[in-house]
Amino acid sequence: MDVLILGGAGQVGTELRALAWPAGTGVHAPSRSELDITDAGAVAGALDARAYGAVINTAAYTAVDKAESEIAEAWRLNALAPAILAAESARRSIPLVQVSTDYVFAGTKAGPYRTDDPIAPRSVYGASKAGGELAVRTGNPRHAIVRTAWVVSPHRGNFVKTMLRLAGERDKLTVVDDQHGCPTSAGDLAAALMTIALRLAADEAAPTGTFHCVNSGATTWCGFARAIVAGSARRGGRTIPVEGIPTASYPTPAQRPANSVLATDGLTAAFGIAPRPWEAALDDILDRLVGPVSAETSR
Ligand SMILES: NC(=O)c1ccc[n+]([C@@H]2O[C@H](COP(=O)([O-])OP(=O)(O)OC[C@H]3O[C@@H](n4cnc5c(N)ncnc54)[C@H](OP(=O)(O)O)[C@@H]3O)[C@@H](O)[C@H]2O)c1
Repeated sequence: MDVLILGGAGQVGTELRALAWPAGTGVHAPSRSELDITDAGAVAGALDARAYGAVINTAAYTAVDKAESEIAEAWRLNALAPAILAAESARRSIPLVQVSTDYVFAGTKAGPYRTDDPIAPRSVYGASKAGGELAVRTGNPRHAIVRTAWVVSPHRGNFVKTMLRLAGERDKLTVVDDQHGCPTSAGDLAAALMTIALRLAADEAAPTGTFHCVNSGATTWCGFARAIVAGSARRGGRTIPVEGIPTASYPTPAQRPANSVLATDGLTAAFGIAPRPWEAALDDILDRLVGPVSAETSR
C-alpha cells in the first residue's frame, strides 16, 4: 500500500516520515519543489503515478500573522489546494486526511470545543483553513478532517524552540496568559494521522468526518512557557521568571481565540486514539532538543 504525504518537510510531515509504518507501506513525501499542491495538473499527475491507498495533507500556509497581509496566498494554499486534492483524490476513490486548526473557532465558548460547534474564524488564517475544510467536506466523501492546535516539535520554528532561545537570552519572559488551548506534539499527531489514514485505506466503512486531535489537558501560552522553562531547567538550562500578560498588552496582526481547547472524545470513539497529557509530550520534545533530565535535578 502506498501513502502520499503532502507538506513532508513541515513539523507534522517530518514526524509522519519518521514513523514506523507497517511493513509493505510505501511512504511518498514529495517536497514543495517536486509537487506544488496549488497546481491542479501536477496534483493529478502525482495521483496517477501510483495506486495510492490514502493521501495525508499537512501542507499549509501557517504564518498566522503574515496571512493578514498575504490573503490570496493563504487562501491559495489553505483552501484552493485542499479543493484540488479533494476533487482529484475523490475521482480516484482515494481517502483524504486533511489537517485543520483550532483557529476556525471564535474562542468565546466556555469549555472545550466539540467538532459540531459552529465555526467563526477571527483571522485570515482561520478563515482560509475553514475554506479548506469545506472544500474537503464537499469534495471527497471519504475524508477525515483532523483539527489540531499549538503544534510543537524539535523541527522548524515553533513555540518550544522560541521559548528555549529566549530563556537563554533574557532574564525574564512575558507571555500572554489569557488564551487557553492544548499544546500538541507533532509526533503524537502524526501517529494519529497514520492510524486514521491506514483505517480509511483498509476499510470502506471506516469513520469519516471531522475529528479533534490534541494532547490532553489545557493551559495558556504563559503556562506552556513556564513548563518549557522548568523542563529546560531540569535538563541543566537557566531558570528565569515567566510573567503573565493580557493579550491586550501583546497586540498582533491576527486575532487569536481566547479559548481554543478541543474535545477529543470523537477521535477516541472512532479510532481508539487516546491522546496523552501535553506535559508528557513536552518532556519527550525537550529530551530531544535539550537532552535528558540531569541526575542532579531529577532527585
Ligand atoms: N503549527 C501549528 O501550531 C498548527 C496549529 C493548528 C493546526 N496546524 C495545521 O497543521 C498542519 C501542519 O502544520 P505544520 O506546523 O507541520 O506546518 P509547517 O511546519 O509550516 O509545514 C508546512 C509545509 O507545507 C509545505 N508547503 C507550503 N506551500 C506548499 C505548496 N504550494 N505545495 C506543497 N507544499 C507546500 C511547506 O513546504 P516547505 O518545507 O518548502 O516550506 C512545509 O513543508 C497544517 O495544516 C496547519 O494548518 C498547525
